[in-house]
Amino acid sequence: MPRREPEREPLPDPRARLELSELGELTAPGARRRLAARQTPLQKFLGLKPKPGKPARRATAAEARPPAEHLDAKSPWRTDPDAFPRDAGMEAKLKFCLNFAVLAPSSHNSQPWRFRIDGKTCEVWADRRKALPVADPEDRELTISCGCALEFLRTALRRFGLEEQIRLLPDPRRPDLLARVLVRGPRESTLEDTRMFEAIAARRTTRTPFAARAVAASAVKTIEAAAAEAGGPGVVLATVAGDQPRARLARLVHEADVVQLGSRAFRRELALWMHHNRSGAKDGLPGYAYGMSELESLAAPLVVRTFDVGEGRGARDEHLAQHSPVLAVLGSERDDTESWLRAGRGLAAALLRAAVLGLTASYLNQPVEVPEMRVHLKRLVPEVGWPQIVLRMGYGPLTARTPRHTVAEVLDH
Ligand SMILES: Cc1cc2nc3c(=O)[nH]c(=O)nc-3n(C[C@H](O)[C@H](O)[C@H](O)COP(=O)(O)O)c2cc1C
Repeated sequence: MPRREPEREPLPDPRARLELSELGELTAPGARRRLAARQTPLQKFLGLKPKPGKPARRATAAEARPPAEHLDAKSPWRTDPDAFPRDAGMEAKLKFCLNFAVLAPSSHNSQPWRFRIDGKTCEVWADRRKALPVADPEDRELTISCGCALEFLRTALRRFGLEEQIRLLPDPRRPDLLARVLVRGPRESTLEDTRMFEAIAARRTTRTPFAARAVAASAVKTIEAAAAEAGGPGVVLATVAGDQPRARLARLVHEADVVQLGSRAFRRELALWMHHNRSGAKDGLPGYAYGMSELESLAAPLVVRTFDVGEGRGARDEHLAQHSPVLAVLGSERDDTESWLRAGRGLAAALLRAAVLGLTASYLNQPVEVPEMRVHLKRLVPEVGWPQIVLRMGYGPLTARTPRHTVAEVLDH
């Protein structure tokens, strides 16, 4: 399938180029806790330690607060559920529900989906212009992301009392048509439907360390069950427990970071999706999602594109993995488009269920994205089949919401 480099907005002024030495030095594993208090968010992101001799740095008042979101007035995050058009036709209702589908998570916040509404049906299409040819050459994560949007759409339909029927890959001649959702009629909406729906707006990816607070086994079981139910047969979310398996998974994350960030093509692709806090881009990763200041967010894409920070970042991610209350792997029995879509639905339901329980999640997918590491991961958690997503979960700070395209921008007629 032909792939195009995604069109991005121009990178910040190259004159703003920073030397790595101006930012700090690579950190060795260990001594992370002491360091964390002194690192800036950009240093944390890159796994760099502060320059020697610099006085211990206190978080500024601005950093102590959750980072500001730069969302415009038309952002789908601002949709008021009370504005649901009860008396309008089904097309208007479906269009309204799409405001919640587009709040789904997606790799690099690429939002690789398009929708078409016709009467009582809504089609979900893959938008391969948003592909990540280096990190995701088979469009596996792209498809998982679309599965998340599909599950968010279903969650919204149920909240507004609409019974749906979903067909995955309904037309083998059109592989980009991932799903067709038919509204069959009204249904009684339950308290459970409302809870899961409300979690759509509450959920975010939290990339900072979680609170050192254990998660009850019963909560984990509930999240696993939500993934299995939405994903269907063969989709499994399994916790990685025990010191040794957790340490091995954390080490795989570290090694995969080294492989990925050692690749210039990978870094260039990642940098294309990283944006300045006030870029106004409606997709991609604003620096504030990593807790970065304005200046740091300006420098970050240039730094990522230019320097191999794999070792420092790997050490940081290994530490994050080892100290997360829950480490889990989502997998599927088979490794094909339908399984990826179903894994996406399972992931979406797990994230919503976690949010209902007051938990937040973040991703450590690196060992799934590097094929030679995926083999090791598959051996480490054979009960999940083909690993698709690595999640860490816990009680974390509330992070800022990332931007989204409006429904009008992703709806085809
Ligand atoms: C399939 C998939 C893969 C993802 N992989 C990563 C990842 O490897 N690292 C990461 O930090 N976030 C990852 N994410 C999270 C996205 O970056 C995040 O969902 C997106 O930026 C939107 O932000 P939000 O989740 O806070 O709304 C992934 C999300 C999905 C759905």
